[in-house]
Amino acid sequence: MNVTVFGTGYVGLVQGAILADVGHHVICVDVDADKVERLKQGDIPIFEPGLEPLVKDNHAAGRLEFTTDAAAGVKHGQVQFIAVGTPPDEDGSADLKYVLAVAATIAEHMERDQIIIDKSTVPVGTADKVREKVDSVLEARGRKELRFDVVSNPEFLKEGSAVADCQKPDRIIIGTSSKQTEDVMRELYAPFNRSRDRVIVMDVRSAELTKYAANCMLATKISFMNEMANLAERLGADIEMVRQGIGSDPRIGYHFIYPGVGYGGSCFPKDVQALIRTAGDIDFDAKVLKAVEARNMDQKTTLFQKISKHFNNDLKGKTFAIWGLAFKPNTDDMREAPSRVLMEALWNAGAKVQAFDPEAMEEAQRIYGSRDDLSLCGTKEAALRGADALVIVTEWQLFRAPDFDLIQEQLAEPVIFDGRNMFEPKRMAIKGFSYYSVGR
Ligand code: UDX
Repeated sequence: MNVTVFGTGYVGLVQGAILADVGHHVICVDVDADKVERLKQGDIPIFEPGLEPLVKDNHAAGRLEFTTDAAAGVKHGQVQFIAVGTPPDEDGSADLKYVLAVAATIAEHMERDQIIIDKSTVPVGTADKVREKVDSVLEARGRKELRFDVVSNPEFLKEGSAVADCQKPDRIIIGTSSKQTEDVMRELYAPFNRSRDRVIVMDVRSAELTKYAANCMLATKISFMNEMANLAERLGADIEMVRQGIGSDPRIGYHFIYPGVGYGGSCFPKDVQALIRTAGDIDFDAKVLKAVEARNMDQKTTLFQKISKHFNNDLKGKTFAIWGLAFKPNTDDMREAPSRVLMEALWNAGAKVQAFDPEAMEEAQRIYGSRDDLSLCGTKEAALRGADALVIVTEWQLFRAPDFDLIQEQLAEPVIFDGRNMFEPKRMAIKGFSYYSVGR
């Protein structure tokens, strides 16, 4: 099938690459000429396991092309994916300007009937707005006879396993009321819909809300566990025991109940806020979601509070080794990362930071530039040198079995603040560390 994908961010690029890999002929369109040029050279702008060979091989085979030429893109595709960003605007609602700009572009250039697919995470009602936009442009062109359908087909990929998630989806949500569109979508996804039927067809608005409901439910699990961890700390309980105790109930399950330093990334914070906004727009008070968001904001400050208390609220001139800057392992993404809240609080208190992350060093450099109170170190050991304490913010595998003797040697005082419960408190005490973790 000939497929066009607008937007070469996480969602668009991965989607284009996996569709090309099963034999579809994919053209990816982006307005950023620089990025398109880099992609043609096999230079992938994001760190995502498995993506680089997938893009390079399929590009070399001629099944995956990159262009800034929107007209050529629209001409090519039997289906047109909209996979551009929906950044939060000032009040937290998703900004649809890029989505609607692509809708207008498709309408300006289409010469045959089309299926337009909303792949970006967009608020309920967006498909209707896309439809209105396409209608109005077609009318202005005097081409009202052209027919089109707008499908909601949300993406559920996780950063760090985006390729695998897309190749082996838990579910393929197709929001349309047209049988004809459903058939085309089923054909498009047939290579990923083997062993069992993963396709769930529903109306457009339900599909749009499914995406938000999934992310908000997951965010709720995390905020709930973080709340329990706070309680456990104050009640003398161990959240890790509680986690195992409740996870064993299949209705609760072991997944996504790890307490920590709050959720970050490009999805959960944005989507929870956007759904609160959507609810507000129709005068509905989304009480649970507001609490999820509030708990998360608080949670991101807990590491700093523990550090500050340990040092008697005097951090001026102190230096902290930070391990982990990305919002989670296996990505270089620092959007909404808890590490940022921590570092900014440390700097405000007059402290210095020596940071290491296996992937996010360039990103940290891009965000913070050069400043006297930040050293970006080449190794996790280099970050320790002369620091007053070690703070672990992201649970990279590389941090799971460190050389504790070396840590003790390098730090001015043997104290570790662990935002991800990487180690056993008893073992750490035996090794002679002051060890602060979450909910224990
Ligand atoms: C998420 C969803 O998982 C994915 O389905 C959706 O399409 C996009 O949003 P992603 O943002 O890539 O994916 O990251 P995810 O692995 O879900 O982690 C999100 C955040 O939650 C991270 O900051 C992580 O550290 C935190 N988290 C996750 C916890 O604090 N505890 C957990 O138990 C799980």
